[in-house]
Amino acid sequence: MGLPALNMLICNGKVFLLALILCYLQFGVSEGQLKVGFYSQTCPNVESIVKTIVRDATLTNPRMAPMLLRLHFHDCFVEGCDGSILIDNVEDPEKRAFGHQGLGGFAEIENAKAKLEAECPGVVSCADIVALAARDAIVLSGGLSYQVETGRRDGRVSSESLAADMPDVNDPIQTLKSKFMNKGLSEKELVLLTGAHTIGTTACFFMSKRLYNFTGINDADPEINPDFLPSLRTQCLINGNVNIRIPLDALSNEKFDDQSLRNIKNGTAVLASDARLYDDSITKQVIDSYVGFLRPVSGPLFVQDFPMAMVKMGRIGVKTGLEGEIRRICSSFN
Ligand code: HEM
Ligand SMILES: *[C@@H]1O[C@H](CO)[C@@H](O)[C@H](O)[C@H]1NC(C)=O
Ligand SMILES: *[C@@H]1O[C@H](CO)[C@@H](O)[C@H](O)[C@H]1NC(C)=O
Repeated sequence: MGLPALNMLICNGKVFLLALILCYLQFGVSEGQLKVGFYSQTCPNVESIVKTIVRDATLTNPRMAPMLLRLHFHDCFVEGCDGSILIDNVEDPEKRAFGHQGLGGFAEIENAKAKLEAECPGVVSCADIVALAARDAIVLSGGLSYQVETGRRDGRVSSESLAADMPDVNDPIQTLKSKFMNKGLSEKELVLLTGAHTIGTTACFFMSKRLYNFTGINDADPEINPDFLPSLRTQCLINGNVNIRIPLDALSNEKFDDQSLRNIKNGTAVLASDARLYDDSITKQVIDSYVGFLRPVSGPLFVQDFPMAMVKMGRIGVKTGLEGEIRRICSSFN
């Protein structure tokens, strides 16, 4: 072997090593991980743009904050947090499924997307906009702020039939637990996340079974505090208008606090699924750790722990790196 040839080989070896390193780095990126500040170089104003839109929308529509929070939950539980709930341009979009009734905030997400496309085209995913908007909604409602991991990519699937993973308001506790477990969420996280029902409203539609036909004999859920039942029944009349909306937290519906957990303990939870969290010894213990009588001495604080459960929920089934796409319009695949 002549010298030039040897030189070439070494050089190739170096090139090979360099290629390997590059390839590894590239793979590291394409394998993908969510991280705080994913857009710090590519779209540094993303968070303030989303926040401004959420704030303005909340000023004109008091329902906006709870709707945006719920939207993130519904996005994450079907096909992962990938913006699939936003899709309109297919025959049977996910958003049409029964359990998604009452969802809103779509126009606001689209509005944020349009602003972001103008500022940094093709960079920010719709799934990340939804995650950021949920955090902003919590803060605007008086909850604690937290850092949102970004770097999600938008999914390419949205189908009504996939929505079966959604927890249902009339699910028993074992079903609620397993639907959360299947997404990698513990009993503690089930309780914390359900604590989101400290803001927002429900349509009477979701109340009829609980108030008038709980076990099929025209009865109410026995776990409803008897002092509270008449008020619920007056707000949602039997055979009344199912579209009437009532507060999920009768005491402090506007404020993001621990009252929804107190309601469960007190029998004054509004949704049946909230009440079910007191039917299981583990979820009951978690609730009592936040609002039980020992809490003032040593227990954890709901509002402090809630963000970590949101971060965990925001990681469900995410697509990163080269998976999925960055949609140009949130309501349609590219
Ligand atoms: C345990 C499983 C859950 C069930 C069965 C459930 C069910 C419901 C139902 C039936 C409504 C009323 C919807 C309407 O009439 O528009 C509602 C509202 C809401 N849910 Fe949940 N939910 C669950 C978990 C969660 C989670 C994990 C979050 C967020 C972290 C969340 C956030 C909200 C919010 C903020 C509202 C109020 C929406 C509004 O005011 O428009 N929920 N939920
Ligand atoms: C009450 O529930 C039973 C059993 O689920 C059902 O067969 C019946 O149709 C319900 N009644 C009303 C008025 O919805
Ligand atoms: C418990 O329920 C009763 C009856 O509705 C209500 O008057 C009271 O304010 C509730 N207490 C708490 C701590 O939620």
